Amino acid sequence: MTYPHAGAARPYLFNDRTVEGYRRAMAAATERVADRIRRADRPFSGVSPERLAPEIAAIDLERPLHDHAAALDELERVYLRDAVYFHHPRYLAHLNCPVVIPALLGEAVLSAVNSSLDTWDQSAGGTLIERRLIEWTAGRIGFGPAADGVFTSGGTQSNLHALLLAREEALTNAGAVPSRLRVITSEAGHFSVRKAANLLGLGPDAVVAVKTDDERRMRPAALARELDRCRRAGLVVMAVVATAGTTDFGSIDPLPEIAALCESTGVSESGGVWLHVDAAYGCGLLVSRRRRHLLDGIERAGSVTVDFHKSFFQPVSSSALLVRDGAVLRHAAHHADYLNPRRMAERGIPNQVDKSLQTTRRFDALKLWLTLRVMGPDAVGELFDEVVDRAAASYALVAADPRFEIVTRSPLSTLVFRYLPREGPGRKLADDANLYAREALAASGEAVVAGTTVGGRHYLKFTLLNPETTLDDVAHVLDLLAGHAQRYVDDLAPLADHSEVTHVHS
Ligand SMILES: Cc1ncc(COP(=O)(O)O)c(C=O)c1O
Repeated sequence: MTYPHAGAARPYLFNDRTVEGYRRAMAAATERVADRIRRADRPFSGVSPERLAPEIAAIDLERPLHDHAAALDELERVYLRDAVYFHHPRYLAHLNCPVVIPALLGEAVLSAVNSSLDTWDQSAGGTLIERRLIEWTAGRIGFGPAADGVFTSGGTQSNLHALLLAREEALTNAGAVPSRLRVITSEAGHFSVRKAANLLGLGPDAVVAVKTDDERRMRPAALARELDRCRRAGLVVMAVVATAGTTDFGSIDPLPEIAALCESTGVSESGGVWLHVDAAYGCGLLVSRRRRHLLDGIERAGSVTVDFHKSFFQPVSSSALLVRDGAVLRHAAHHADYLNPRRMAERGIPNQVDKSLQTTRRFDALKLWLTLRVMGPDAVGELFDEVVDRAAASYALVAADPRFEIVTRSPLSTLVFRYLPREGPGRKLADDANLYAREALAASGEAVVAGTTVGGRHYLKFTLLNPETTLDDVAHVLDLLAGHAQRYVDDLAPLADHSEVTHVHS
């Protein structure tokens, strides 16, 4: 291998002598992305891992290109050409939103300045901006002046952090032992709750999922029964996790009823059961002028997860954990002499690492800051409201279409439905036909939709998060899905008539 001569790498360092190169590189990258976005006529190329993997494997990482333009050309081939584009109106799959330009401005600035939000001496104003946004979000939730919180990498981390705090509260206030701790959520709660319980060493039975009603909301009566059962069994419920926007159904648990049950069920001298509201998806309602009431009761939570990268049109990552009483954040605080010695906290030096699970941490808050400063909260809320309006109209469309059956009407923006083959031998192929339709659609790249199971049956799912998605787009994707599913049935129904045909989709 040949090594470059001494100093050859210096021009790549970003500093006062290289700003022209930085300008050119950033302009070239921006142009590349802009061109892709302008030309994207579908959300996905349909590429398979088998086709793409060899291209990436063939790149020799020991042989650099020494040229931004050449690297971008290569990137076009191994990434940009086949990326999944969330801004496209027919991307209807997961909880990924299109992003707003002020947030992209923030992203460009934050990575170039590269502040790290662990300590004041690595961020200065960044720390204060993040603190101001936490205060603002807490205000929108309806928390009082004692509230606090911190930005995180996503809802999974926010939920883990909340449950860690709840566990410590239960261990210290209720004198519980870890094996007796329980977390109650609904059967539609996010899987990160189980993952967090695992990581927190709570044992395999720690998470209890209570039944939901027909609208996929936690049943307060089932929660009351479970709280009572735990009490009688000598178990300590360290947290109830309510969901404001379930991942599959967009349902919102009845927060006031759940809060009342938590408040009236004492686990210790110091009060009721910790209520955590996972509003990773539903947090967009915090800025809705028409639907904020759907979150009523959230202000009675002990902690709240918000994912700005789901319903505030922010790029990944942008999330936060908010707590009603900032003092509980001490449970995750550790002091290191080299970084955040206790004397700094005593002198009031604002070190965010005292509140966070992370040490080095991106200044993700800047994206939300610029979004609020350029657009303002009402504009963000209006975008989210549009999406929810479109989902309601789409529900009516699917519900009136005899080709499909639909599960529930979401107060947010998901639609869970399935293609229903006509009565006859094709009917029993419904599960595989829906699985096939989703895969065939993604392979065509025409649209990307999600899937899930309900009662053991396979369903299709739209998560609408793009105000640019029209009702015509939705109708078009429904036609495409019906076409794929029916083709599957037509090909296989004659066989199904005579034999056991299962899982023929590829
Ligand atoms: C309700 C809910 N909570 C938590 C999460 C996890 O969030 P993240 O993917 O940002 O870690 C999700 C993700 O879809 C979610 O829908």
